[in-house]
Amino acid sequence: MKKIVVLISGNGSNLQAIMDACGNTIKNGQVSAVFSNKADAYGLERARAQDIDAHSLEPKDFDSREDFDRALMEQIDNYQPDIVVLAGYMRILSSEFVSHYLGRMVNIHPSLLPKYSGLNTHQRAIDAGDEVHGTSVHFVTEELDGGPVILQAQVPVYEDDDAEALNDRVQSQEYRIYPLTINWFLQDRLVMENGNAVLDGAILGPQGYATD
Ligand code: GAR
Repeated sequence: MKKIVVLISGNGSNLQAIMDACGNTIKNGQVSAVFSNKADAYGLERARAQDIDAHSLEPKDFDSREDFDRALMEQIDNYQPDIVVLAGYMRILSSEFVSHYLGRMVNIHPSLLPKYSGLNTHQRAIDAGDEVHGTSVHFVTEELDGGPVILQAQVPVYEDDDAEALNDRVQSQEYRIYPLTINWFLQDRLVMENGNAVLDGAILGPQGYATD
C-alpha cells in the first residue's frame, strides 16, 4: 500500500474526499498522516475520526519560514510518503520544501489555471463576468500555482451566483478529480518530467488531461 501525506489549513473537505476514496478510486493508497499549520483546522478532527495521525505545527513557534518548513519536512518524512498532497494548505512554501518534494507533491487550486492564481478566485471569476470557472490539480513547483496542470474540471457560472454558491459547485468537482489524479500517480501512470505532467507516456497540455 502506498502512503499519502495530506497538508491542510482548514475544513478539510478535500481531505475527506481523499480518505473516502482510499480503497475505491484510490486503489493502492492510504492516508498515513495529516499536517496542518493551524491547530484548530477541522480537517484534523476528520483525520482523527478515521484513526489517522493528525499533527499541527504553528508558524509562530518558528523563527522563519525556512525553519518551519524544515521541521515540517522532518515530520512528514517520518511517514516516508509516496505523495504529498496539498488540500487547502494556505501557506507559501520555501524553495527547499518545494525542491525536496519536487515531482511527488500536488496541489488543487480553485480556478482554471493559469487564470486566477492566488486568492479569492471565485469572486474574481464572477467580477470578470466569466461564464465558465473551475478547478485545477497540478504538480507543485517554485512558481505559485504555476506547476504543470494534470487535470481540470469546469463548472458554469450563473448570473445570480455569489462566491459561496460558486465555491460549492467547484468543490463538488474537486472531490471527484483530486482522488482520480492521486490514483494515477500512485499507479505509476503519472509523473513530472522536464517540467511537464506526463500521463501514460503522453505529455499533457496546458489544461492537463482533456477528453473531447
Ligand atoms: C479548496 O477548494 C481548494 O481548492 C482551495 O482551498 C479549498 C480547501 O477546502 N485551495 C486553495 O485555494 C489553494 N490556493 P477544504 O479544506 O474543504 O478541502
